This record gives sequence, structure tokens and C-alpha cells, in this order.
Amino acid sequence: MGLTGSRAVVTGASSGIGAATARALAGAGCELVLLGRDEQRLAEVAAATGGRAEPADLTAPDGLAAAVEHARGADLLVHSAGVGWAGPVTAMPPGTAEAMIALNLTAPVLLSTAALDGMRRRGGGHLVFVASIAAVGVRDEEVYAGTKAGVRAFAASLRCAAGPVRVSTVLPGAVRTPFFDTRGRYERGFPRLVEPEAVARAVLRAVRRGRREVFVPGWLGAAARVGGALPGTFERLSQRFG
Ligand SMILES: NC(=O)c1ccc[n+]([C@@H]2O[C@H](COP(=O)([O-])OP(=O)(O)OC[C@H]3O[C@@H](n4cnc5c(N)ncnc54)[C@H](OP(=O)(O)O)[C@@H]3O)[C@@H](O)[C@H]2O)c1
Repeated sequence: MGLTGSRAVVTGASSGIGAATARALAGAGCELVLLGRDEQRLAEVAAATGGRAEPADLTAPDGLAAAVEHARGADLLVHSAGVGWAGPVTAMPPGTAEAMIALNLTAPVLLSTAALDGMRRRGGGHLVFVASIAAVGVRDEEVYAGTKAGVRAFAASLRCAAGPVRVSTVLPGAVRTPFFDTRGRYERGFPRLVEPEAVARAVLRAVRRGRREVFVPGWLGAAARVGGALPGTFERLSQRFG
């Protein structure tokens, strides 16, 4: 898909991967609509990219409804908003799972559905889902992993419908962003933390080349294939190395 002059809507644009993606898309000539909650950080990204800041809480009915309207006009829709939670699933505070599912899964499903309508009518468009390598299953991140696996399967299912709309899923490992301020510190030795700009480059690559799935770093794709082909081995490796 050609990016110059296209209208891109980015969720989670106030921080981390979403902000880096917004900067990269602005550099490629996109007109941006930037969604997030933090008005000050969103305004900073808007100033840097020439985009329009549209503050919205995607877990609140009015914020979600406003975001759905923005999605309807998108040529490119990048879903980056997301939160995580790590720890024993039985110790998860009440409401955490519901909020995570609402933001990580329900919002991308509803926004994509609205965007698809407009894209099909205009004869083209591209949906990009920022999932996670957690989609293959991760100890102590069961609900987060479930939302990311859900998004990955949703995207794969959308790809099954013939049509003018492309669908890409980007699956990062660990990325140096404020994500871990809410999720809890990243303490694993690998995968090593990558910069959010590397994920932003992967998003642009996915759009320009029409890629189905892009792992960041690329070798994580092999880990995902082991998980799919040898689930027993994958579980033993997960138990051994976390
Ligand atoms: N960092 C990693 O290691 C990593 C790895 C794999 C996948 N991912 C995925 O990458 C995506 C981006 O994460 P990140 O690393 O860039 O984290 P981040 O810097 O914490 O950014 C998260 C974004 O989500 C937005 N957000 C959070 N709650 C929201 C809500 N209720 N309504 C609307 N927006 C909300 C935040 O907006 P405000 O700050 O304005 O509230 C922020 O813009 C997420 O989907 C995450 O699951 C991250």
C-alpha cells in the first residue's frame, strides 16, 4: 500500500511503539489521527508528526465510540494500545482481566470492523495489529497472552476473506517502553529488549510489502514455529527457561 497522503489512525500513539510508529508514518507522508489517553503526551506526538490528537479511553463506552468513528475513515489502522499484567493468574486483582481484554482484544475487533466497511467501499486499506510473541503462550502472563493470541487469530481470520484489505500482525518480543511500568519489570535475559523504533520499522515493512506476520526480532518466528509444531517441547522449554 502506498503511504503518502493516506489517512492513518494509530491507537496507543501517546507512548512507546505507537508513538514511534506515528513518527515513522509521518516520515512516510501519512496524515495521522492519534489516539491515546494522556493528552499532554499525545499533543507532543501530534506536534512532532503534524497529526491530530484525539484523546480517547478505549475501555470507556464514549471513548470507544469516538475511536470507532475515527477508524471508519482510516486507510491504515494500526492497533498499538495495550496493557499487560504479569504474575500468578490466581493473584490477579479484580477487574484486571476484564480491562485487559477490553483494551487488547475488544477494542481492536470493534475498530477493525468499522474500518473494514470504509476500506472495502474505498477499494483498499490495511489493518496492522501489534500483538506479541506472548501469543504463543507465556507462563505467568496467561490473560495477556490470551488477548494477543485472540488478536492474532482474529487477524488471520480476516485474511481468509478475499478482498482489497490487507491485514498484518506484528509480534514483538520485549521492547524498551513504559509498558513495563504497569506490567512489572522485565527480568528475563532473553529475548533482549529492542527499541520501539525497530517495531515501527516492522510495521512500515509489513504495510509496504503486504506481510502477514512480522516477528521482532525475526528469530522469534522460529520460537513460534516450535510452539506450533512441537507443543510438548515448547512447554518443557518454557518451564525450564520461562
Ligand atoms: N513493550 C513490550 O515489550 C511489548 C512487547 C510485545 C508487544 N507489546 C505490545 O505493544 C503495544 C504497545 O505497547 P508499548 O510497549 O508501546 O507500551 P506503552 O508505551 O505503555 O504504550 C501503551 C499505549 O496504550 C495506550 N493505552 C493504555 N490504556 C489505554 C486505554 N484504556 N485507552 C486507550 N489507550 C490506552 C497508552 O495510552 P496512554 O499512555 O495515553 O494512557 C499508550 O499509548 C501493546 O499492545 C503491547 O501489548 C509490547
